[in-house]
Amino acid sequence: MDYLPLLGGLIGAVAVGVYIYRRARVAGETCDCTDRVDGKVVLVSGANCGIGRQVARELALRGARVYLACRSRTAARQAADSIINETSNTSVRPLQLDLNSLASVRRLVHEFRQVESQLDILINNAGCFYCPPSLTEDGFTVTFQTNYLGKDICVNSVDPGNVNTDIYRHYRELNTFHVRLLRRLLMRTPWEGAQTVIHCAVSSKIDGVTGQYFRDCTIADANPLVRDRALAQELWRTSERWTGLSPL
Ligand SMILES: NC(=O)c1ccc[n+]([C@@H]2O[C@H](COP(=O)([O-])OP(=O)(O)OC[C@H]3O[C@@H](n4cnc5c(N)ncnc54)[C@H](OP(=O)(O)O)[C@@H]3O)[C@@H](O)[C@H]2O)c1
Repeated sequence: MDYLPLLGGLIGAVAVGVYIYRRARVAGETCDCTDRVDGKVVLVSGANCGIGRQVARELALRGARVYLACRSRTAARQAADSIINETSNTSVRPLQLDLNSLASVRRLVHEFRQVESQLDILINNAGCFYCPPSLTEDGFTVTFQTNYLGKDICVNSVDPGNVNTDIYRHYRELNTFHVRLLRRLLMRTPWEGAQTVIHCAVSSKIDGVTGQYFRDCTIADANPLVRDRALAQELWRTSERWTGLSPL
């Protein structure tokens, strides 16, 4: 019985320590800009969970017309409904997109063009990690097509940090009970991971900034290979051929 206050104090001290450690070493920068994006048309891929959902919610809060492009139409609709509930912005709409099918990407573009004449902000968020090896209907590996070919364009790139999301669903060692606890402690929450993406999408301070790599809401050094123009052009031409945007 006498130990109870001691135990309470110990638990409190550990909780405070964890909080301070997370703020200092894990959480990263928070986007502190208050810019709004009223009426801007935004499309977020993979917006049903993780970082994408947080970004979509924040942009809805800031007044955008937000399209959630998700692999499952049902998941897109559920995410849209819950974001509408949370933000009172009724201009949040579901779309279906499977990056593992170039036909699906084209269908999405067609569907989008039926309802909008311009796109102001594109968040190429959908992605996967450590997927079981398999080929898509277009003949590419799932990881390559999902993370690169299905998206294809890149204006600014964002490093969200190590974020505790479903991205690790295929990585068995990261899904044991103890490792999941550690992930909570040592990794960013989806909200924390979304901050740099939100910053790039809304901050008027970086209007006109393009071709950069952002981490913790600031421009960071990217791999020097990305500045190799000849390599970039070759990659672009090859990607155009692979996606059927130019003749083989
Ligand atoms: N978490 C990290 O530590 C981390 C670090 C660096 C970069 N990133 C990047 O951040 C982005 C968001 O990841 P997250 O951490 O938020 O992971 P997440 O919670 O797993 O979200 C990934 C989203 O992408 C969607 N997606 C996957 N494959 C798709 C496909 N073929 N077609 C359409 N949508 C597809 C998922 O849809 P389903 O729910 O239907 O699967 C989900 O909505 C990814 O591009 C990831 O590579 C994450």
